[in-house]
Amino acid sequence: MTPDYGMQVVAPFSPLIMKATAPADIVMRLNDRVDRIMAAQTEKAERDWGKHLAGNVSAEVRITDIIRAMPDLSDFLYDVARTYTYRCENVLLNYGNYEDTEELKDKTLEIQIKEGWVNDMVAGDFNPVHYHQGCVYSCVLFLRVPEGYEAEWRADKHRQNTVGCLQFIDSRTAVGARNLFVVKPVVGEFYLWPSWMLHCVYPFRGQGVRRSMSVNLAVI
Ligand SMILES: [Fe+2]
Repeated sequence: MTPDYGMQVVAPFSPLIMKATAPADIVMRLNDRVDRIMAAQTEKAERDWGKHLAGNVSAEVRITDIIRAMPDLSDFLYDVARTYTYRCENVLLNYGNYEDTEELKDKTLEIQIKEGWVNDMVAGDFNPVHYHQGCVYSCVLFLRVPEGYEAEWRADKHRQNTVGCLQFIDSRTAVGARNLFVVKPVVGEFYLWPSWMLHCVYPFRGQGVRRSMSVNLAVI
């Protein structure tokens, strides 16, 4: 048996990504509201946010006001961003133990919703490599995938399937650290990351809409 030697993995430099699951009710109500926007030409045009974004995407509509007006959605975003901050700080302070945030409980962190928008992607749409400016965290909630998406994803001939996927990119590679991380869109799943982290979304070919919500957050 290998002696313990007090060995411990210390990883202060790895950017961390938080994964969570949004309540199904939030996903349903967001989809209902966005469906109504997409069906109303005037409101869709008024909310068009495409000129501010990197995406080559059919519809990008700003929904910051809608997010702020949904207390359960705002609370979900605040909770995940706060917990991410506490856990990351705790990792740095204690060289580990992701779950123990007790000593940081007294710190009051205010999370601010800067901008939020929804991307409706259809066959051929994509989001080139980019990062988000003017915020501390960025996040995504997957709201809809095309009906035939699972079959198309499974048929992807590449070793690392990327059809319709989000990919994070970091510049270094090392033992125990990836420089590419692929996230398959699953309805209800949510990811939060440092806003400087490069990412992109690959296209798909099938019929239907891939819908996601993105939000930029600040920590005060
Ligand atoms: Fe993005």
